[in-house]
Parts: sequence; C-alpha cells; structure tokens
Amino acid sequence: MPYSRIVGTGGYLPERIVTNEELSRSLDTSDAWITERTGIRQRHLAADGECTVDLAEVASRRALEMAGVDPGQIDLIVVATTTPDRVFPSTACLLQARLGAGRLNGPAFDVQAVCTGFVYALSVADQYLRQGGARTALVVGAETFSRILDWTDRDTCVLFGDGAGAVVLRADQAPGIRSTHLHADGTQAQLLHVPHGVSDRLQDVVGGTAYVQMAGREVFRHAVARMGEVVEEALAANGLSRSDIDWLVPHQANIRIIAATARKLGMPMERVVQTVAGHGNTSAASVPLALDVAVRDGRIKRGERLLLEAFGGGFTWGAALLEWQEG
Ligand code: ACO
Repeated sequence: MPYSRIVGTGGYLPERIVTNEELSRSLDTSDAWITERTGIRQRHLAADGECTVDLAEVASRRALEMAGVDPGQIDLIVVATTTPDRVFPSTACLLQARLGAGRLNGPAFDVQAVCTGFVYALSVADQYLRQGGARTALVVGAETFSRILDWTDRDTCVLFGDGAGAVVLRADQAPGIRSTHLHADGTQAQLLHVPHGVSDRLQDVVGGTAYVQMAGREVFRHAVARMGEVVEEALAANGLSRSDIDWLVPHQANIRIIAATARKLGMPMERVVQTVAGHGNTSAASVPLALDVAVRDGRIKRGERLLLEAFGGGFTWGAALLEWQEG
C-alpha cells in the first residue's frame, strides 16, 4: 500500500482539573501571569495510582471505536511517552495486554521524543504501513507529566498537564499521510531536560524523584524557529503553498509559540486548533488530543489538508502533512 490513513481518533483527560487560581494558592504565581504568558487556564492531573497506560487505554478504545476496529485487528502499537509506567516492559506492551489485542503480528514499542513524541510515532508507523510491515496500527501519545514536575517550581509546574491521545492508522491506496519530517539536535539537551535517569544518576533529585528543568526563554526561541522551518519543509516537499493548508494542529505548549508559528504560516488563528487553555502542555499527548477535539467537534472535514507540528526536549521537532478522509 502506498499510503497510511488515520481512520479513528480518541482522547482522554484525567478527571481532576487544576485551575491557575488553585495553583496560585500554594505557589507565588497568579492566573493573570500564567494566562498572559502561556494562554493556559487549567490542566488535568492524573489521580494517585492512575498511570500512563490507564490514560492510553481510554484514548485508544475511543480511537478504535471511531475507526470500527477491533483490538484483535491491530498489528502494530507505537506509544510516545516521556513518562512510561515502568523501566520495562514498554508502555506499548502494557497497553497491548490491557486492550486484549492478543499476540500481535507485528511489534509494540515506545518512542521517546518528549513533546515531539507523537509526530515521531506517527512517522514510524506511517513508514511501517507504507512498506507493508503492518496493515493496522495504533499510535498513541500518553503522559503523566505531573510525576516529573517539581510542584514548588513555578517556572515549570504551571505549564504542563496529563492526558492521552490516540489514532488508528490503516494502510490504504489513497492518502492519508502525505509526508512526515523529523529532526533532532542533542547538543541543546541541557536547555530542557530531567537531569537524572536509570543509568546516569546525576544531581537535582528531590526525594528520590527527578524533575523537569527548563531555560524557558531559550526554549521559546528555538521552538518558534524550528517549527517555522519544519512547516516550510513539509510544504516544499509536497509542492504546496501556505494557503493550501486548511488546519494547523500544533503542539500545545504556549499560545504565544502557537501564534508565532501561525503568523509565519500566514494562518489566521481561527484555522489553528487550540487546546492549550484547557489542557496545558501534555507533551506527547498534546497533538493527538488537539486533533481528536477538532475531529469530534466537526471542524475538520473530509478532503481538508492538515499540518501537524511539534517541538520538544532533545531538542526534537517534526511535522506531518496529511489529507483528512473519514472512515
Ligand atoms: N508565575 C509568576 N511569575 C513567574 C512564573 C510563574 N509561574 N514563572 C516565572 N516567573 C517569573 C520569572 O521568575 C521572571 O521573574 P524575574 O523577571 O523577576 O526574573 C519573570 O516571571 C519573567 O520570566 P520570563 O522568563 O521573562 O518570562 P517569559 O515571558 O519568557 O515566559 C515562559 C516564561 C512561559 C516559560 C516562556 O518562556 C515559555 O513558554 N517558554 C517555552 C517553554 C515551554 O513551552 N516549554 C515546554 C516544553 S518545550 C515545548 O513544549 C515547546
């Protein structure tokens, strides 16, 4: 099959909503500061004991239901996450068991590219399907990012939230996904990182857990520049101009980053899917969650062209250009 196509989307946000106002009761911050600098008004946080696979399962079931696909038909699972439940097995394997997908005809594995994770995962699954390695793939972005935040650090904790988004991809004769474009630059790692892991046990560990550290202004600058570039790259690869794109579905980190990218594309904000106010930055989950919202509320229509784009820790960044065909 020459193409892969999204045939179902799903999303899930944990029940607990934490508003800016609630955060400002325990932190030296305010609703006005957070809203003005980021566009975020609230975020959802996983309950104690609620894990990444729990969020991924609900989002996946919703995507499978929309696609009319039985878990037993899946032959590839790719989960993008920065917050896997365990060192191993992968969240993808845990999800496979949860869904009762049976023994897969293909692989199940995790992809780690932080906020670009879903675009990376989509690209991997797309290549797999195009080459005939699988016919039906489940691609998920799922995070319990709240577990790697220092809730006393106002520079970082106000920005993020938990959630999961999923898509079902099917090999098809018609597009579908036109192209994907991925990049990475590890030389900037220290600007956005958790300086601790399984093998490299560095400093900055509070109570046995390590937390996100970020040089906010620098990250902002890189995010705007790299997302602008990758969007141009995707257009050029398809011989399209900016006006050929119907919807921009960007990573939901900060409304100012989103607006800057939209400006570069010459896209009015009404054509940009925005969920950052209600979700915060859900890292790998943000793009599929935004896509699911706009598909389910009927904004995205058959035959329209979508540009998905993201930037995150690594640094990593990427884009996917696709044509929307339901069912
Ligand atoms: N409440 C109140 N004040 C705060 C808060 C807060 N939550 N956080 C920081 N401040 C203070 C700072 O301490 C600083 O105070 P100072 O001037 O006395 O030193 C002041 O606010 C201004 O800080 P700036 O860094 O100038 O604020 P800026 O306008 O750059 O906004 C922000 C900060 C929102 C972090 C911005 O830089 C940003 O969004 N960067 C991108 C980061 C991001 O999105 N990372 C997510 C991962 S990457 C990605 O997903 C794209």
